[in-house]
Amino acid sequence: STISTSDYRSVYHFSPKEKWMNDPNGMVFFKGEYHLFYQHHPFGTTWGPMHWGHAVTKDFLNWEELSVALAPDEHGMIFSGSAVVDWNNTSGFFDGEPGLVAIFTHHLEVPNDHPIQRQSLAYSKDSGRTWVKYEGNPVLEHESFVDFRDPKVFWHEQTEEWIMIIACGQTVCLYHSPNLKDWTFGSEFGAGIGSHDGVWECPDLFPLAVDGDSGKEKWVMLVSIGADPAFKEGSRTQYFTGEFDGMVFVPDEASHTVRWLDHGRDNYAGVSWSDIPAEDGRRLFMGWMSNWMYANQTPTEDYRGAMTIARELTLETRDGEVMLVQYPARELEQARKPVLSLQNVSIRQVSEQLNALQLVNYEIDAEWPSASSVQFVLRSGADHETLVGLDAAQGEVYVDRSRSGIINFHEHFLGRHTAGLKAVSGNQRLRIFVDHSSVEVFANDGEAVITDLIYPDADSIGIAVHAEQNDMIFNSLHIYEISPIQAK
Ligand code: FRU
Repeated sequence: STISTSDYRSVYHFSPKEKWMNDPNGMVFFKGEYHLFYQHHPFGTTWGPMHWGHAVTKDFLNWEELSVALAPDEHGMIFSGSAVVDWNNTSGFFDGEPGLVAIFTHHLEVPNDHPIQRQSLAYSKDSGRTWVKYEGNPVLEHESFVDFRDPKVFWHEQTEEWIMIIACGQTVCLYHSPNLKDWTFGSEFGAGIGSHDGVWECPDLFPLAVDGDSGKEKWVMLVSIGADPAFKEGSRTQYFTGEFDGMVFVPDEASHTVRWLDHGRDNYAGVSWSDIPAEDGRRLFMGWMSNWMYANQTPTEDYRGAMTIARELTLETRDGEVMLVQYPARELEQARKPVLSLQNVSIRQVSEQLNALQLVNYEIDAEWPSASSVQFVLRSGADHETLVGLDAAQGEVYVDRSRSGIINFHEHFLGRHTAGLKAVSGNQRLRIFVDHSSVEVFANDGEAVITDLIYPDADSIGIAVHAEQNDMIFNSLHIYEISPIQAK
């Protein structure tokens, strides 16, 4: 086998230059840059004393990694949290110019007792390059929650206050504040609703127009749930839709409904960017492309952890149901290098053309008119293949990574992951993003998404396609190599 674990570094997904990374943190847009902070252990390739690493991008393709933003101190490690632009200096940290405020969890280990998790602030007057921790830290604590972490803060126009949504054990709590320093409890949400297959972590809450109609707005809540040995899915992220008045979140969902953001195994702790200008208007999201079930064992060498591609989230009515829909951020199209572009072409012709290709980092965009099953065989070689397809009879999209490459670092890594689709009668569309160690599948315009890590041989670079009907015609099939424009 030609497996070299150094070949796994993604070319269009963010990964740290070296050492360990988990959750995205503090994602905020400011002065033309998208900031990504992240849970980082700068001294090891497994989870350890948490810092905030830092990178910036303008296009989600080319990332500039900056120095560590926040390091542990007397209040403990720096766990997950968010960042906002304090436009009106509500915090009093700034004079004249608006700046960035990070709101994060201080995690303090206590000998012979449970750790203490409290919320703290840091601010930056130079676009996140240097940070000052607030001398009044911590600003929020709670006596009864052992798990009290991952504050996500946003400005609420109607009540003219900051809102914090934070994981508090098996629920989320909502607080509000005029100045980011003094927080008042508003409400708690989550008992008896949604999935409780693991500890609640990394929540987010934001409004979205339904079907692009700003007169019809709903709030979306994201809640990640940690890995529990009882569930072979490991850690995953659920969402709720509902109403929010600045104090209380009222869900649309019946209590037994669980709605997953992603149906693969490797999209965790994701939240959305803060302060994207109204002219842009998008709600952009990125998740950590791993799973606590095996995150510390994945077979990479000098670094461990990558993020998903950036995605735009929308709320759309599909088949009578208002659902969260995901699209790859359009910036990724800038890095497309057309490899194949076919219209009204038979499966036989497509098949011939694909067999001639050898690709590692690319996008497939395929559309076909019938409810026919189609299967792509990706990253295929002598021993390895990853299957991505749409099963019309079952009405589902799937990724099967059972033979995808190195799978033996965890007993539940191998497997086939499926997501039900609403209507498999009209046009079917799959957009599939493949990189050195991942596949992300967007089925039927983002109705269902599957994100999975894979670890194939470096020479497993073949592509093939099969269809149920051997006279099937694709409306279109495009393949683009994706390579960031600037050298890394
Ligand atoms: C989620 C999480 C957070 C915590 C962080 C620690 O993956 O467990 O709840 O803040 O990771 O690194």
